[in-house]
Amino acid sequence: MEAEITLDVDGERHRITADTRTTVLDALRDHLGITSAKKGCDHGQCGACTVLADGRRVTTCLSLAVASQDVHFTTAQGLARDGGHPVQQAFLDHDAFQCGYCTPGQVCSAVGVLDEFGRGWPSAVTPDVRAEPELDDEEIRERMSGNLCRCGAYTGIVAAIGEVGGNR
Ligand code: FES
Ligand code: FES
Repeated sequence: MEAEITLDVDGERHRITADTRTTVLDALRDHLGITSAKKGCDHGQCGACTVLADGRRVTTCLSLAVASQDVHFTTAQGLARDGGHPVQQAFLDHDAFQCGYCTPGQVCSAVGVLDEFGRGWPSAVTPDVRAEPELDDEEIRERMSGNLCRCGAYTGIVAAIGEVGGNR
């Protein structure tokens, strides 16, 4: 069954007609031509399709477009506007990408991680969930563990996030 779907992406509203089973990832890439969100596994396991939904990271291969009509999405393309986001500059400075395929998802996830830190949200490795979590490498690794990089650029990615978060 097809439906008219309105999607808000990087500050622009788009109207598409698509099958109700269309994922946000396929809507972005195939209907809107926004290709910064990458299709890696298409099963919620690699993080390459991550974008921000109302500021929180989501795997768009697992999100239905028809259920996301009131959501404000921000993609890596959107973050790159107006000279780019500090996380993007830090990825460049720390050579935090190799082939670059997973990078847009990593960048969006990193922006979400830093926001989570800013709100004081604990993770599975936070020693004391009642205290403010500390932005150390272990916390960054745990929180970025849903984003896989087959090139192995992890060292640069952890350094880039740490720098923007102010612990280097
Ligand atoms: S493509 Fe969505 S998590 Fe891999
Ligand atoms: S930069 Fe190549 S998979 Fe991450």
